[in-house]
Amino acid sequence: MHNLTLINGDGIGPEISDAVVKILDASGVEINWDVQTAGEDVIATEGVPLPNRVLESIKKNKVALKAPVTTPIGKGFRSVNVQLRKDLDLYANLRPCKNLPNVKTRFEGVDIVVVRENTEDLYAGIERQVDENTAESIKIITRNASERICKFAFDYAVKNGRKEVCVVTKANIMKLSDGLFLDVYREVGKSYPQIKQREILVDNLCMQLVQNPNQFDVLVLPNLYGDIVSDLCAGLIGGLGVAQGANIGLECAVFEPVHGSAPDIKGQNKANPTALLLSAIEMLKYINEFDAAEKIEKALFKTLEDGTCTADLGGKLGTKEFADAIIANL
Ligand code: NAI
Repeated sequence: MHNLTLINGDGIGPEISDAVVKILDASGVEINWDVQTAGEDVIATEGVPLPNRVLESIKKNKVALKAPVTTPIGKGFRSVNVQLRKDLDLYANLRPCKNLPNVKTRFEGVDIVVVRENTEDLYAGIERQVDENTAESIKIITRNASERICKFAFDYAVKNGRKEVCVVTKANIMKLSDGLFLDVYREVGKSYPQIKQREILVDNLCMQLVQNPNQFDVLVLPNLYGDIVSDLCAGLIGGLGVAQGANIGLECAVFEPVHGSAPDIKGQNKANPTALLLSAIEMLKYINEFDAAEKIEKALFKTLEDGTCTADLGGKLGTKEFADAIIANL
């Protein structure tokens, strides 16, 4: 029996969480969910969108599955997602982007893993208003953070039988900050002679990705480029409804879809649970439940191969009906 934290989120969060928990239950994997609410709805009762009890639960259980949480705009709250990553030091953001059966996309055979540094760069949030007409934002790149993310990318490549890790920077312009990231990548790479190494500038990468994405394998990037490029890669495989993610640290890991809380389709049984389900499958592998992970993945693929899907992928099924179809294929 695994004790895991479930943050069921807000917006479409509770609908897709219900669907995914039902599918995991039906697979036979034994999970005792510690359900933790967070987000907009919690502010009214507890004053903050991410109460301490949520962090304590993840620290205790080490692993969490997280549905999206709304970040209130302009109310002075920090993003729950950014805060979670910071407080739990989830330094690696992992986004595997692989074509799914029957999901129509521009390219076939895309299989890219984006490894994004999750803790620094322009996301350190160090900004100041210099004067009325000038604002300043500071980009922080450290050896320590660069080293651990590059190691993570190479280790991931070794563990998952990948062939290449390509580093993405703009080191020709930001010679000191991106230059440090690149230098560290080269140093770390020396310990992984079995993995092919490649360096590319982020602008060129973007062009290459939309022309010939199949040339890429694992990408490792500083935070901001990683954020942008991982959404580009999500677009290559069918968009937000199918894009999975994970935030991994030394102590804890939080698995979550790339998409947000989709307030426009909240409560309408329209949301696609696939991205959260793929994140949950990755979570099962992380806790060594490989059989259950494989079984669920097969059932999902079979369901998609049958042409059964939600409206965002051109299908007719609602969230619940799609989950039931997957369960029937388990
Ligand atoms: P969003 O990802 O929620 O929605 C963008 C578009 O994609 C919408 O049209 C939505 O209906 C559609 N969409 C998203 N997920 C879908 C799914 N599973 N099935 C079908 N359609 C789906 O992005 P938006 O609107 O920019 O953000 C809404 C809120 O979510 C914001 O408060 C934002 O801060 C938050 N957010 C939270 C994230 C997280 O918890 N990790 C990540 C991104 C945004």
